Amino acid sequence: MTTEPAQRASPDWLDLRWAADAEARDRGATDLLERLVAHLRGPDRDQGPVRVVDVGAGTGANRRYLSPRLPVEQEWVCVDHDRELLDHPRHDGARRIHCGLTDLPAEVAGLGAPVGPAAVVVANAVLDVLTTADLAALADCVVATGGIALLSLSVTGQVRWEPPDPVDDVLARAFDDHQRRDGRPGPDGRHRELLARWLEERVEDAAGQEPASAEVLREWQARRAAQMESGALRVLVDHVDLLVLGRDWADGAQRGA
Ligand SMILES: C[S@@+](CC[C@H](N)C(=O)[O-])C[C@H]1O[C@@H](n2cnc3c(N)ncnc32)[C@H](O)[C@@H]1O
Repeated sequence: MTTEPAQRASPDWLDLRWAADAEARDRGATDLLERLVAHLRGPDRDQGPVRVVDVGAGTGANRRYLSPRLPVEQEWVCVDHDRELLDHPRHDGARRIHCGLTDLPAEVAGLGAPVGPAAVVVANAVLDVLTTADLAALADCVVATGGIALLSLSVTGQVRWEPPDPVDDVLARAFDDHQRRDGRPGPDGRHRELLARWLEERVEDAAGQEPASAEVLREWQARRAAQMESGALRVLVDHVDLLVLGRDWADGAQRGA
């Protein structure tokens, strides 16, 4: 039985980041998408729908982004361990699988062979929240479905602030430690509401991780909020996208922001 996650991604946060995420993907990783499309449309791949397995599907942002950009017939399988997110109407028309990553290889095997010629595993903004056991299960799943995957918007841990602030490093360290909690390997903004929420949640996680720095982090947040209000703040959050095309094709990785 799948147990619900201890920490949840909230639907309004996922919706808030949609526009910035789509912009970053359009700017930083279109050639990976072109290579994926060329591969999926290869000479022996014109029979039936491509099965797209969206791991950590959340409220469906990855399908919303990829579906119109993949000029092939598609059959979507949306996977998440959060039942509430999986119930989102944006998953209508897709097959929903409610399970954690470690149960995914068995669940995907249970689907049987795809009707069409190929399957591709996709995951957006997911890798950095996974444990090493989850990551191993994801790799197994990619191999078992034919070795094609597009793993997008994984944060690298690099955040560039302008102007710099002496407490930036305290926040970075405590937040990265939070991302690495319980053995996880760890490690957007014109969009003001998104940036404000991002600051708030980052500080909350970092202060929870390092209570001794809570006060200095809240003062830092107030300084950053004032800079944001005056339009003086710029933040660049680095991330990496990875395209896996199996043995006959060169693997590709590209940075975006
Ligand atoms: C940051 S959200 C990204 C959601 C979506 N891909 C997007 O781009 O908006 C991470 C998602 O992964 C799911 N998730 C995290 N760990 C998981 C696990 N071990 N098994 C299944 N789903 C997981 C969360 O429930 C959440 O929906």
